[in-house]
Amino acid sequence: MEFKTNLITTTHRSRISSKKMNVSVSISKIRKDTHNLQKLYDFKKYIDSSTMVFPEDMLEMIPKDTPPFLDNGEHYVERIGRALKFFKQCALIGPSGTGKTHIVYLVAELAGLPMWEINCGLATSVFDLFGRYIGLGKENWIDGLITNWCRKGGILYLDEVNMMKQDVATKLNPLLDQRGHMVLTEKDSEIIQRHKHAYLIVSMNPVSSEFAGTKPINAAMRRRMSVWLNFDYMSIGDDLDEKEFQMVSEKGGIPLKDAEIIVKIGAKLREEYKMGDIPYGPSVGDLVNWGMICSDGVDIIAGAEETIIPMTSDDQEVQEEVRNIIKKILESDTVARKKLV
Ligand SMILES: Nc1ncnc2c1ncn2[C@@H]1O[C@H](COP(=O)(O)OP(=O)(O)OP(=O)(O)O)[C@@H](O)[C@H]1O
Ligand SMILES: [Mg+2]
Repeated sequence: MEFKTNLITTTHRSRISSKKMNVSVSISKIRKDTHNLQKLYDFKKYIDSSTMVFPEDMLEMIPKDTPPFLDNGEHYVERIGRALKFFKQCALIGPSGTGKTHIVYLVAELAGLPMWEINCGLATSVFDLFGRYIGLGKENWIDGLITNWCRKGGILYLDEVNMMKQDVATKLNPLLDQRGHMVLTEKDSEIIQRHKHAYLIVSMNPVSSEFAGTKPINAAMRRRMSVWLNFDYMSIGDDLDEKEFQMVSEKGGIPLKDAEIIVKIGAKLREEYKMGDIPYGPSVGDLVNWGMICSDGVDIIAGAEETIIPMTSDDQEVQEEVRNIIKKILESDTVARKKLV
């Protein structure tokens, strides 16, 4: 699976031209790959991929082979499907690593929709997003990414939307009225209707003192989003979720008692992250990966040395802090087990 498709790649992908024969192969491959995924989610009642047809050069932009989204019976996938069906757009809020990007790729795959992804925290200009004339004069206009999405449809995913620059937000707002259109003022005020399958998903980290650098979402956009879904870790601090033990055990291929320690450590690291003490809190996916390394006969601390510790930070001091948290929990766990014996 490929995350973080950047602006350049997405634009490049949209220009890939395919020969007829290749295209029929990729259509049948997409249908086959998503077949099993469709069984896991009750998604078709919201968006039925078989009712949509996109041009050949957009098929490459439909995500493939996205792993399932693990949840605790919250039905996040279906709830996003419902929001898209009723309102064409929704907002996802949650700390880093809670699977927001993952679930958007999954929804795009289930819906059979091409993805257009923008990280609003990166310096991307109004010209890149909406379009510009190239060369001298007004001969050659190139649509920007948002204009392309508006004309051609698919899911526009605006990550870190609260970091969006004001000039971009101002141009975007009229388009976000559900049946909106856009006016390309730079191109003789051409009016473009929002494609009937142009869906929008925005995501952001919660705004709080715990998350340095976050700022509130622009009020005009807040009003235009009808559905807000909160994402959070399954276990945080001392609040542990047994289902997460099971997930890490099953997906990581390790005994439940080892998964329990890994989740306990993960929950502690998430708490530290939320308090602003370390720069990253591990996702359930990260804990599964750590478990997988341990399933090959590596002990928990050695497994952490090549997964969770360097993943949290490059900074040696932070790494040492993480290492100490891990050792402390491992020790207290050994003591607790000895007492039981
Ligand atoms: N519920 C989940 N089920 C399966 N995988 C998950 C889940 N939550 C997180 N992951 C995995 O954790 C990793 C981080 O997830 P992702 O990048 O989607 O988080 P995010 O919420 O978008 O974070 P950020 O705010 O930093 O962009 C990915 O590898 C993802 O597959
Ligand atoms: Mg993300």
